[in-house]
Amino acid sequence: MPNFRFIDLFAGIGGFHIAMSQLGGECVFASEIDKFAAETYKQNFNIDSLNDIRTVDALSIPPHDVLCAGFPCQSFSKAGKQGGFDDTRGTLFFDIKRILAVHKPKYIVLENVRNLVSHDKGRTWKIISKTLKDLGYIITEKPIIVSPHQIGVPQLRERVYILGVHKDFTNCKKICLSVPKAKKNLLSGKSILNGTSDPKYHISDYEEYVLNAWNDFINGIDTKVLGFPIWAKEFAQNTDISQFPKWKQNFILKNRELYVRNRTFIDGWLNRYNHLKDFVPTHTKFEWQAGYDISSVWEGIIQFRPSGIRVKRPTEFPALVAMVHIPIVGWKKRRLTPREVANLQSFPDDFKVNANPQQAFKQFGNAVNVKVVKTLAQQLFEQT
Ligand SMILES: C[S@@+](CC[C@H](N)C(=O)[O-])C[C@H]1O[C@@H](n2cnc3c(N)ncnc32)[C@H](O)[C@@H]1O
Repeated sequence: MPNFRFIDLFAGIGGFHIAMSQLGGECVFASEIDKFAAETYKQNFNIDSLNDIRTVDALSIPPHDVLCAGFPCQSFSKAGKQGGFDDTRGTLFFDIKRILAVHKPKYIVLENVRNLVSHDKGRTWKIISKTLKDLGYIITEKPIIVSPHQIGVPQLRERVYILGVHKDFTNCKKICLSVPKAKKNLLSGKSILNGTSDPKYHISDYEEYVLNAWNDFINGIDTKVLGFPIWAKEFAQNTDISQFPKWKQNFILKNRELYVRNRTFIDGWLNRYNHLKDFVPTHTKFEWQAGYDISSVWEGIIQFRPSGIRVKRPTEFPALVAMVHIPIVGWKKRRLTPREVANLQSFPDDFKVNANPQQAFKQFGNAVNVKVVKTLAQQLFEQT
């Protein structure tokens, strides 16, 4: 579909913008309430996106063929009760609805978090799909759930995509979008690394000490594939655990059994690492999520999370949401740089990344993956 016009709502730093431009579109309006994200948007696309969509008169928005929106997930329960007949009133989805009602663009391309589907016992999805159908849009019966790793980008990030075409512009009765499945073993975390020697990304001596300890541990016990988190504080314990919920009791018992089976090794390990007295308490918890694919912590992708340290396969970067837990590239002993995070979100090399790394991480964490949007939208445009 060459030379089409699109609008970019909840625009962030423009994941949709890039995908639509690559498909031949021109942006005629963008909306973003966060001034730092709007700053990045302006630097890249020379469009002033800073506004609150709730205060924008739909008639002031130029005509367009595609409406894009990665809108925040909100509950409709309250809105329904307060607003009488309109379930969507008072939510940001209501703003999408009122713009669609005025402009009736041919296509919609929406994105949301994975749990939109189950949110409020499925009611949120029901209201969204009914609202879109009432406005004349043909959408896929079920929401489409896609993660970048399915199309060759080494990031696990399941998101819901809602794509639709207005029935007045097509003879199509149904849209079927399929997601090509990339083979997991062809993915490579290395493909997104750019290489940096800036010491500010390097892990600290303390982090290296803790990770060396866990590397010794995982190589010393009788199996790597445990299926439960390791909680070192439970080793050699036999306190009463009946007050804990069942799932927690189960984990504790498994840790105690692991200790009994590997007692000689674990006692030596605890001695070597000063009984973990120098560890921050959350770092005494460890999750190995790499199966038998790698044999060392230093071959994996590592995250220091509030629930403990997690190691994943080098092909799978975790979803970039909580950017405080920036993944560590084990074999480089450093955290990802903003540019590498941009690669994980399939932003092009010439994208101007916000100069403040904390803002940049947050912005990419909120963004939509460019390649996923492009892949799905291209199919929609070709089919209808
Ligand atoms: C999930 S992010 C979307 C990111 C975007 N798709 C991208 O690729 O960068 C949702 C965005 O909606 C913005 N937002 C929230 N309320 C808004 C409002 N009332 N008007 C405009 N933008 C809003 C947030 O600041 C946030 O950047």
